[in-house]
Amino acid sequence: MLRRPETIIVMLVFSIAMTFVSGLQAEAKSKMQKKSFGKTEDGQPVDLYILTNKNGMESAITNYGGTVVSLIVPDRNGKREDVVLGYDNLAGYATGKAYIGATVGRYANRIAHATFTLDSTTYTLAKNDGDNHLHGGFNKRVWTAKDVSSSAGQALELTYLSKDGEEGFPGTLPVKVVYTLTDQNELKIDYSATTDKDTILNLTNHAYFNLAGQGNGDILQQQIMIRADKFTPIDATSIPTGELRSVKGTPFDFTNSIAIGVRIDQDDQQLKLGRGYDHNWVLNNGTPGSLFLAAQAYDPHSGRVLEVLTTEPGIQLYTGNFLDGIHGKDGKVYNRRYAFCLETQHFPDSPNHPNFPSAELKPGQHFQSTTVYKFTTK
Ligand code: BGC
Repeated sequence: MLRRPETIIVMLVFSIAMTFVSGLQAEAKSKMQKKSFGKTEDGQPVDLYILTNKNGMESAITNYGGTVVSLIVPDRNGKREDVVLGYDNLAGYATGKAYIGATVGRYANRIAHATFTLDSTTYTLAKNDGDNHLHGGFNKRVWTAKDVSSSAGQALELTYLSKDGEEGFPGTLPVKVVYTLTDQNELKIDYSATTDKDTILNLTNHAYFNLAGQGNGDILQQQIMIRADKFTPIDATSIPTGELRSVKGTPFDFTNSIAIGVRIDQDDQQLKLGRGYDHNWVLNNGTPGSLFLAAQAYDPHSGRVLEVLTTEPGIQLYTGNFLDGIHGKDGKVYNRRYAFCLETQHFPDSPNHPNFPSAELKPGQHFQSTTVYKFTTK
């Protein structure tokens, strides 16, 4: 079809304008806000990065501990609320003991007696949970931040160089965490690392969720589904016994969505040992290492739904059993069971359980792990 010259000019102007507008949009997308979050005791400046998406979702992340400080998500009526616990200031994170929102490593969760043997060398770690090692110290380090936003969404890259021998772990370990907030209402976390000596590594994020809004009461009516037919029972010090136990007929069966509070106080030995849920589930992912919908949480009041997808083989459901009146954001006080954590991970104490998926990392290997927190409403 032949077009008149005026028509062609109009079309050209229109397409140039559209290119300009989408350029502006791309620029808006890449404009992550940065604010000072204070200084550490030894004088290191720390910042807060605010990631936003086109749906009004927003997340503040600090390079202190690679920590998610807030996550603002709409409910079924569009009302925006912060669904993660946190502190108002850096001092809260620097003195806090609950790993709230932090990047956890080198080894997420516990290592029995703070010791493991690799290539016939026995390593001794810091004992920070009775006789055990728990979670490591990445949450109290200052990470180097870089804006790596792209068409996928606003994105923050955090890097940290963990030295050989830090907390007793072997190998110099450059580690990278990239947080991306997508327009599909996902907070995507990509972890990567390498090592120069055989070592072990298990990284997670320790967000404490309350889908009704942070500090707004307990989470007992919020529902959880976990795609796992087995879990790893624990001993009196919360170390896995090594057994992979079927969830069938137990309060650990979350294969169908059920409110957290329905069975949490049942007369069950495992619930007593954890003071509630504080266990690792063995995910039914038939293709290890591929992104798998591991769990879903739902708050019937707000309608918020959280889906957790991960490449990891396990997930820890921790129901805030040890929260004991922590003074958090906006004057809120966090009491027992005011939040739940869904920590994607290799199983606790894997280095001491040859039957668990290995958490070893060797020189030449590239550690890669992804977890996505996706929000919808119903
Ligand atoms: C552990 C809990 C611990 C909490 C805070 C969770 O990952 O399983 O036992 O109290 O983190 O450190």
